[in-house]
Amino acid sequence: MAQKLAAGNWKMNGTEASLAEIDAMIAAFPAPGCKVLICPPATLLERLSRRAGNGPIATGSQDCHMKASGAHTGDISAEMIKDAGGSYAIVGHSERRTDHGETDAIVCAKAEAALAGGLIAVVCIGETEAQRDAGETLDLIGTQLAGSIPEGVTGDTLVVAYEPVWAIGTGRIPTIEQITEVHDFIRTRLIERFGAEVGAAVSLLYGGSVKPSNATEIFAVENVDGALVGGASLKASDFGAIIDALQKA
Ligand code: 13P
Repeated sequence: MAQKLAAGNWKMNGTEASLAEIDAMIAAFPAPGCKVLICPPATLLERLSRRAGNGPIATGSQDCHMKASGAHTGDISAEMIKDAGGSYAIVGHSERRTDHGETDAIVCAKAEAALAGGLIAVVCIGETEAQRDAGETLDLIGTQLAGSIPEGVTGDTLVVAYEPVWAIGTGRIPTIEQITEVHDFIRTRLIERFGAEVGAAVSLLYGGSVKPSNATEIFAVENVDGALVGGASLKASDFGAIIDALQKA
């Protein structure tokens, strides 16, 4: 069985003052009934990790360079993420695929580097609105899955996040039928490639405009094991309500 995971992606948001949100989350959920992860900007990773300590909230980065070290100005490596207290790395977020031209091959190399550095890779995939309108969603998801996930992953080292690009930050979400279709497809493909045991153990997150008001219906979908949450993860009250919906699902 895949682990339930409520993951927050703070994107390019957060300063020292935001750490109070972590204190509020820890106070509200001293022993949550699901795994909780926050991926702050790199500037806050160490501070947030120290604040989270050995408690129930894990931390991670929003990216991870494919190389272990070297002349790559502005980038951070898996070793640095680990050193800063992180245990996860998001790779292949659509904003990085768009803003930084990251291809499936680059995302795969980054995931591989994250795994080699002892991190859990959260690999993001998802279609644009034009691709959905053209009926290309499952083809695209299949291509991204095949191209972005390295060999040798397990349910302990890989999380897959399905984030339709058109649902990110827009307040729009796919229908429950559309989420079900894509998540079932992802599960099937993972089982075909990695075997029944590994395929069933990988947590599949839905991401894109997840809010307290829609979390319960999304988490009721069989192959949805949690969420990758952007805007609603910045406030402990909203993220707390999403954590609560997941632990009750
Ligand atoms: P929102 O929850 O703000 O739509 O962002 C989703 C996302 O991109 C998480 O990685």
